[in-house]
Amino acid sequence: MEQRTLGRTGREISVVGLGTWQLGADWGDVSEDDALAVLEASAEAGVTFFDTADVYGDGRSEQVIGRFLQTHEGITVATKMGRRLDQVPENYSLDNFRAWTDRSRRNLGVDTLDLVQLHCPPSATVDADATYDALDTLVAEGAIAAYGLSVETVDQALSAIARPGVASIQIILNAFRLKPLDAVLPAAQEAGVGIIVRVPLASGLLSGKYDESTTFAADDHRTYNRDGSAFDVGETFAGVDFETGVRAARKFSALIDEVGPTGLSPAEVALAWAWQQPGVSTVIPGARNAGQARANAAAGDADPLPQELLDGVRRIYDEHFRAAVHGRW
Ligand SMILES: NC(=O)c1ccc[n+]([C@@H]2O[C@H](COP(=O)([O-])OP(=O)(O)OC[C@H]3O[C@@H](n4cnc5c(N)ncnc54)[C@H](OP(=O)(O)O)[C@@H]3O)[C@@H](O)[C@H]2O)c1
Repeated sequence: MEQRTLGRTGREISVVGLGTWQLGADWGDVSEDDALAVLEASAEAGVTFFDTADVYGDGRSEQVIGRFLQTHEGITVATKMGRRLDQVPENYSLDNFRAWTDRSRRNLGVDTLDLVQLHCPPSATVDADATYDALDTLVAEGAIAAYGLSVETVDQALSAIARPGVASIQIILNAFRLKPLDAVLPAAQEAGVGIIVRVPLASGLLSGKYDESTTFAADDHRTYNRDGSAFDVGETFAGVDFETGVRAARKFSALIDEVGPTGLSPAEVALAWAWQQPGVSTVIPGARNAGQARANAAAGDADPLPQELLDGVRRIYDEHFRAAVHGRW
C-alpha cells in the first residue's frame, strides 16, 4: 500500500490507516478477540497507522493496541487526550497534559507517544498560545514525539495549521462532508501539516448497507447521539440526517454502478475517494471485525478514481447536504 509522510511527524504511514474507537466502546459490544483480530488483519494487509484515544472504552482501545505492540513493530500510533474531563479551556493545562499522556504511555506500553492529538478541544483552546507552549513542553520532556489536533470545524483546523509545532490535523472528510476540500487541505499542504481523515464512511452510511428501517444497539452512538445529546452530532453519520444519508448513499452506489470503478464495494470507493484527495495523509476507517479491516485496507490499492465519479459526488453533496452542513462545520 502507498505510504505517505504524516506531516511534520516525518513518519511514513499507509494511506489507509485504522480507527479504533470501535475497539473501546460506543459502537455496541466488540469482544477482545475481535479487537485483536481487527488489529492483526489490518497490519497483515499493510496498515501501519492506528488512531486511538484515551477515552475509547476509558483506555481499553489503547490497552488492546499496547498488547498488540508487544509482538508487532512498524506501527505508528496516534492517540488523543482531553475528553476525560469537561472540555473547558482551564482543563487544557500542562499538569493535565502530563497526567493524561502518562496514562496513555502506560496503556500503550511506550516511553514516548508517537503522536498525541487534542481531542476536539473548544475553539478558545485551539486559539491559545498557552496550549502550544504546553504541548511543546511535552515534546521537550520526551513524553510525546509530536502533537496534532483533532478538530470539529474548518476554522479550528485553519487556526491550528498556522501554528509551527502542529504536526497533523484530524478532521471529518467524506463524500457527504466536502468543506475541508476548499481551504483546509490546501493550507495543510502548503504548511507541511498532515491530514488524518476520520469518519470516512459517514459512520458506515457510505457502505450502502443500511436502509430506512435499520436500527443500531442502544449503546451504539448511532442510536443515542443522533440528536447530538452526548457529543457533537457531526461525529454521528457525519452530522447528516439518517434517512437523507440512506437516500444519498443509494445514489452513491448507483453512481459507482454507472461510471465505475468496477470490482470495489461502495465502502472501498468511499475510502479511495478520501485518500486520493490532494493533501490527505491517511484515512482511518473504523472496523468492527477482521473482514471490514481487510476490505478497508484493500481500498489503499485502488487506482485513481474516474473524474465522472468525482463530479457525481459533488452533485450528490450539492443536492442533499450542502445547505444543511456546509456552513456548520
Ligand atoms: N473526535 C474525534 O477525534 C473522532 C471522532 C470520531 C471518530 N474518530 C476516529 O475516526 C475513526 C473512524 O471514524 P468512525 O469509526 O467514527 O466512522 P467510519 O469509519 O466512517 O465508520 C465506521 C463504521 O463503518 C462500517 N464499516 C467499516 N468498514 C466497513 C466495510 N468495509 N464495509 C461495510 N461497512 C464498514 C462499520 O459499521 P457497522 O458497525 O454498522 O458494521 C463501522 O463501525 C474512529 O474509529 C476513530 O478512531 C475520531
